[in-house]
Amino acid sequence: MDKSLTLLGIESSCDDTAAAIVSYVPKVGAEIRSSVVVGQADLHARFGGVVPEIAARAHAEKLDSCAKMALSEAGVALAGLDGIAVTAGPGLIGGVLSGVMFAKGLSAATGIPLVGVNHLAGHALTPRLTDDAVFPYLMLLVSGGHCQFLIVEGFDKFRRLGGTIDDAPGEAFDKVARLVGLPQPGGPQVEITAQDGSKDRFKFPRPLLDREGCDMSFSGLKTAVLRARDKCVSEHNGLTQKDRCDLCAGFQAAVSDVLVEKTRRALVTYLGLDPKVPVLAVAGGVAANGVIRDALTSLCKDLGIRFVAPPLSLCTDNAAMIAWAGLERMRAGQQDDLSLSARPRWPLDTTSPTLLGSGKKGAKA
Ligand code: KG4
Ligand code: ZN
Repeated sequence: MDKSLTLLGIESSCDDTAAAIVSYVPKVGAEIRSSVVVGQADLHARFGGVVPEIAARAHAEKLDSCAKMALSEAGVALAGLDGIAVTAGPGLIGGVLSGVMFAKGLSAATGIPLVGVNHLAGHALTPRLTDDAVFPYLMLLVSGGHCQFLIVEGFDKFRRLGGTIDDAPGEAFDKVARLVGLPQPGGPQVEITAQDGSKDRFKFPRPLLDREGCDMSFSGLKTAVLRARDKCVSEHNGLTQKDRCDLCAGFQAAVSDVLVEKTRRALVTYLGLDPKVPVLAVAGGVAANGVIRDALTSLCKDLGIRFVAPPLSLCTDNAAMIAWAGLERMRAGQQDDLSLSARPRWPLDTTSPTLLGSGKKGAKA
């Protein structure tokens, strides 16, 4: 029997410490009652990337206050919880462990059931939390650490159609920003800078479009930007603002073209399942990019497919998606016990062959 449930979600797999309260009422739906995200960007800034040990320690320090804040913002007491959902992987193992240990401790002390959640499942199930998406739908996950197409067939049934074989697009955006002297995180900076540029001045490659299927590659594209930048520098002893804008615009157009064409192919496979209401959903920080969003929106419009892009705060790492994924597991009668372990790697689809790189940062999604 479907019943009302309220869960605390905990997320600590990369550099965001997050806690959230999500409730579900049968026939009414889901409600995010609070969602607290405490980032660590300032702690890692001077190292140019996330330092796992610093991240793990910061999570351990902040989980307690994040969870308290989420409970108090939602007006829910511990006694009002039906479950504690926690990211059990994939991610930076120290951070995942901090979250799992915290959730286990709270569960052991209170008797509240514990549910382990795959972080990628959290992202992949978000369209059900925000837009009532019905299975099966196609998900394009594009972030700083991941890039993959998933057909979401059930709360625990995912089919990966392809993904990046090297860098994730967000990682490439960040590297390109560094190459042209823009601050981190690079994605939003590259997007803003590209607005004043011409996307056609540099002829950047569209990697793997000549290869069948949905796999992608962004590492060569980044190298092409590096070469074009070096050429500009050697020609006029430095990079002009126009060079910078044109490099960003050309790079962004190439990423967008690759994502759109590969999405078109993934949609063909997906539509073969004959879904009643076809849906393409996106998640991950790169889904914030206006040019990419617009291109995917018009692709879906042309094909008569519903396009679901959750609000940015739910596209990037958060704990509401973890609470929701845990809620879906609990509704199906599943839960874990104190033997729940943290997993650095945990593919959603164990039947498809492993991707070579799938985003070298690996931990983020
Ligand atoms: O999902 P997210 O917050 O973190 C994980 O990777 O899990 O995504 C962050 C990534 C960064 O690489 C950032 O540069 C990229 O998303 N990003 C963007 C934009 N906003 C964030 N990339 C392109 N355009 C944007 N507007
Ligand atoms: Zn993520």
